[in-house]
Amino acid sequence: MGAERLNERTLDLLYREHLTAAMQRADRALAATGFDALEIHAGIPPTLFLDDQDYPFKVNPHFKAWVPVVDNPGCVLLYAPGGRPRLLFHQPQDYWHKAAPLPRDAWTREFDVVPLRSASEIAARRDGLGRTAVIGPATALGHVDPERLNPPGLLTRLHYERAIKSDYEIECMRRASRLGAQAHLAALAAFREGLSEYEVQQRYLRACMQREEEMPYNNIVAYNENAATLHYQHLEREAPRPLRSFLIDAGAQFRGYAADITRTYASAPGAYADLISEMDRMQRALCAEIVAGRDYRDVHLTAHHAIGEVLRRAGIIRIGPDAAVETGVTGVFFPHGIGHLLGLQVHDVGGVLADPEGHERKRPEGHPYLRLTRRLEPGVVVTVEPGIYFIDSLLAAAKSDARRDAIEWKAVEALRPYGGIRIEDDVATTRAAPENLTRDAFARAAA
Ligand code: GLY
Ligand code: MN
Ligand code: MN
Repeated sequence: MGAERLNERTLDLLYREHLTAAMQRADRALAATGFDALEIHAGIPPTLFLDDQDYPFKVNPHFKAWVPVVDNPGCVLLYAPGGRPRLLFHQPQDYWHKAAPLPRDAWTREFDVVPLRSASEIAARRDGLGRTAVIGPATALGHVDPERLNPPGLLTRLHYERAIKSDYEIECMRRASRLGAQAHLAALAAFREGLSEYEVQQRYLRACMQREEEMPYNNIVAYNENAATLHYQHLEREAPRPLRSFLIDAGAQFRGYAADITRTYASAPGAYADLISEMDRMQRALCAEIVAGRDYRDVHLTAHHAIGEVLRRAGIIRIGPDAAVETGVTGVFFPHGIGHLLGLQVHDVGGVLADPEGHERKRPEGHPYLRLTRRLEPGVVVTVEPGIYFIDSLLAAAKSDARRDAIEWKAVEALRPYGGIRIEDDVATTRAAPENLTRDAFARAAA
């Protein structure tokens, strides 16, 4: 048997275990919240205002947690404890659009798959299931008794548990990372050729064979000062001259699971290239902290200290790391969290939940943007994404207050035209050493 077939069989086996775990999770959540069954809608895309076209379809993450179908709106999953899950697979009679064929992959053996011609058939299909909790975007559902629609207690339980990925989910994320790493290398080659942001994006998409709307988030392809905008959203059609720096934050998906990868490159040797090397060294050290039992808030605070050290050694600040963190100077250059949960969504839900009941695990004071405050456990996949940016508005604010004297403005002015640096890996917590999905994927792509 070829390696690829073997891989597919392994994935099928892992999927079966994953589905069993998803059913057990659902059983616990239903029992705790007094519902008899789940009805999960894939959703339908909203229509443009005053138009007859739809926005790109983004499937309900609760649906793709069970069913690896991300591109067929209108599907519904029905599940009651003790029974087989039932997939109502949307196949409308519509001569404007091509209906998706009924899936026949190995995973469908775990479901009763039934074609669904129209939403009006759903009521009959759910007959006999008892009191169902309906999960889906309200706009796609028509009238549902509000007590049954997205019940917060039920959702919170599912969100809390979703942070711990099954082996199947981690394998999907490995594969998404491999697609992403391969496409990142194609993007780097395009940058080295001097192509524009727009052309880099085209090369990237071609290399991972995904459409722009299939990306798990809007790719950030930023040259020079554009790298200082954290979620830079444009694609300039011409490359700037001189072309100094390249920050690319671009992902990929596999069966609905995301990779979230950032790399930063310099056009030429110099202070900025040296700063990238320092950041890379520091980022690797932070990745080693993704171990079971570690409080992720401490990873974030450690990152602030490490960034303070890098800034000091590079001559960008005049004070030591402790003082720089305490006085908010590191926050001028690093104004986002060190990372977040990753999975079905690029910012996976449940990052600040303390328990399945929905209590909050507080962010450290002064760090409102941190999206993850939980203690790490085996199976939790996170990003580690330290950055140093030269952001006009934050620098202006620091210049006008007590932080002014802590900053070496000449060094800042020299680096401002490069925008910034971010290095981002996806890392799985295990029972032993962390598994760096991103670095492993780059190593494999380069081999
Ligand atoms: N690409 C979005 C993020 O890094 O969180
Ligand atoms: Mn991220
Ligand atoms: Mn990212």
